[in-house]
Amino acid sequence: MQSSPENSTCQKAYITTPIYYVNDVAHIGHAYTTVIADALAIYSRMVGYDTFFLTGTDEHGQKIEEAAKARGKETQAYADEISGKFKALWDDFDISYDKFIRTTDTAHKQGVQFAFQKMFDKGDIYKDVYKGHYCISCETFFPKIQLVDDEFCPECGKPTSIVEEESYFFRLSDYQERLLQWYRDNPECILPKSKRNEVIRFVESGLEDLSVTRTSFDWGVHLPAEIDDPKHVMYVWLDALMNYLTALGYGTDEVRMDQWPARVHLIGKDILRFHAIYWPAFLMSLEMPLPKHIAAHGWWTRNGEKMSKSKGNVVNPREVADAYGLENFRYFMLREVPFGGDGDFSQRALIDRINSDLGNDLGNLLNRLIGMSGKYFEGRVESDLVEKYYPAELHAMHDSIDKLEPLLFEMQIHRYLEELWRPLAIANKAIDQYQPWTLMKEGREAEAMALNGLIATILANVAVMLHPIMPKTTDTIAAALGFGITEESYRHLTKERELLAPFTVEKIPPLFPRIEEAVLLEKAEKQPETAKKETEKETKTEGVALIGIDQFFQTSLKIGTVIQAEEVPKSKKLLLLQVDLGDGDIRQVVSGIKEWYSPEELVDTQVCLVANLKPAKLMGIKSEGMVLAAKDDEGLVLMRPEKPKKTGTVVS
Ligand code: MSP
Repeated sequence: MQSSPENSTCQKAYITTPIYYVNDVAHIGHAYTTVIADALAIYSRMVGYDTFFLTGTDEHGQKIEEAAKARGKETQAYADEISGKFKALWDDFDISYDKFIRTTDTAHKQGVQFAFQKMFDKGDIYKDVYKGHYCISCETFFPKIQLVDDEFCPECGKPTSIVEEESYFFRLSDYQERLLQWYRDNPECILPKSKRNEVIRFVESGLEDLSVTRTSFDWGVHLPAEIDDPKHVMYVWLDALMNYLTALGYGTDEVRMDQWPARVHLIGKDILRFHAIYWPAFLMSLEMPLPKHIAAHGWWTRNGEKMSKSKGNVVNPREVADAYGLENFRYFMLREVPFGGDGDFSQRALIDRINSDLGNDLGNLLNRLIGMSGKYFEGRVESDLVEKYYPAELHAMHDSIDKLEPLLFEMQIHRYLEELWRPLAIANKAIDQYQPWTLMKEGREAEAMALNGLIATILANVAVMLHPIMPKTTDTIAAALGFGITEESYRHLTKERELLAPFTVEKIPPLFPRIEEAVLLEKAEKQPETAKKETEKETKTEGVALIGIDQFFQTSLKIGTVIQAEEVPKSKKLLLLQVDLGDGDIRQVVSGIKEWYSPEELVDTQVCLVANLKPAKLMGIKSEGMVLAAKDDEGLVLMRPEKPKKTGTVVS
């Protein structure tokens, strides 16, 4: 590879994803951040920046300890397992990370202790007593005023508990003015810019010192030996945020500290406060430079609904990639949603993007080139007369390509892709307008060949700039056009506006075969009979299927309160129940319990409901759940909590 242009050789690009909690498996939200970061990293390498791409897992805290316990596993073994799954997913997705950090790594823990000691020595950390409402799920204390109904977490809605404990505090309040100054002096420090205003407003309303240790659990980084206070472990967010420094060797071997400060921390909007307030304050305390951008994306929903395990509508990225192709999925995620906004995953939207943007606009253009050059020139493509015959198209294409670069690091990735599709429109239009078949008929061969050259050059430029988003597909396109995507070809084509050298186009099968309908469900149904039988054999014992704990947790069981019950007309067996699951979630359930229960005796009693069953129709009435019951020779009884529980309580 050749050396890069002067202004880019010294550029550093340290790009990070959040480190993912190991209490859950990866979903589309995780894949989204990771793919954006990967695209930025591939781009940075392609243009010659000294690039370092970090991802990893966040493994400490009460939440993880409890998740392990619930599954009957030792905490470290559980963390190893889930962290391994994240890593395997990113490896299968060809994510080009340079380091996968785990907060249970020894070097990370040493680095965090080093930082803690430094802040402590400086007087930025002091010991006091903390009393407050703590949400385990969010690992955050909330002032009473922020709680919902004086009890529930304002972020996730789960009950908080009152925790009174000795704690070390970080003097966050001392950094309020410096933080505000940083936001003001660096209009692009938080992206999109609208989010920066939110943060400014929050900080202006006043910052309290932050409790940065806990004594109520043990699964975390202990304080430095010098402080000698063994019952304290560090607050998970202090521990987690520090990963961005410890991954470079901060506090240990310092091996990649030349990469600091980060070019961009990619995160989701829900963790902006931690990154835009606590993290820069910690860095100021450590006297470290601040990151260039903190970029917060929005949330994915599914078919318009919030994704949650209990609804059973979480999008599994591996399934989508298997069904629709990994790179198509990457393209969809980055193109579909303006960065910072929320996005909706639906198979229809994905199929439309594949068929239309990728199939019609891009794939078809390559097919047209293969067809034209094959028919008229035995596959040869020569570009030397492009400038002579099609200067307007050529320049318009380059003008679009020139606009792209800034859009990427400003996190306008959907606009980047939108702009990148303009050259494709120019190329498709040029074929329709100049009609190579007419040119050939009229004996204007040179013009027809130059048109081939124009199309090939446009495709080559698009392939290079699309490479970060669809690396393998674009390598295939480039190979068909007789070149490879490298730092050098990037420069020659897009910067120096060179035309493609003469080549013979390779005939390749269509890159984006048309998809007619959703494939995800069909796939599961179309399991071959023999394979199905084998699987059944392996997973059954004495006629009962053996399932893993993960499978069990796919069932959402909740305590519901029956608020209405009535007979289903003309049915001997069925009752129609309205079951309240809390938070406004009221389910209509048709249940075959009429022989054993009357509607009157059910109202205001509690039941245990399977809450994530696909709705079904019984006697033409929609049923949105199933009540659990046990039936033997003596009849049927409903399964209910021994004592009344809050409506919506999860049963596990
Ligand atoms: N461990 C912390 C991050 C520490 S970084 C120092 C954490 N982990 S997480 O696994 O819960 O979330 C990781 C990321 O996934 C966050 O950026 C979050 O915004 C993102 N998402 C979680 N659900 C999401 C969607 N439904 N859609 C898009 N992103 C979502 O927070």
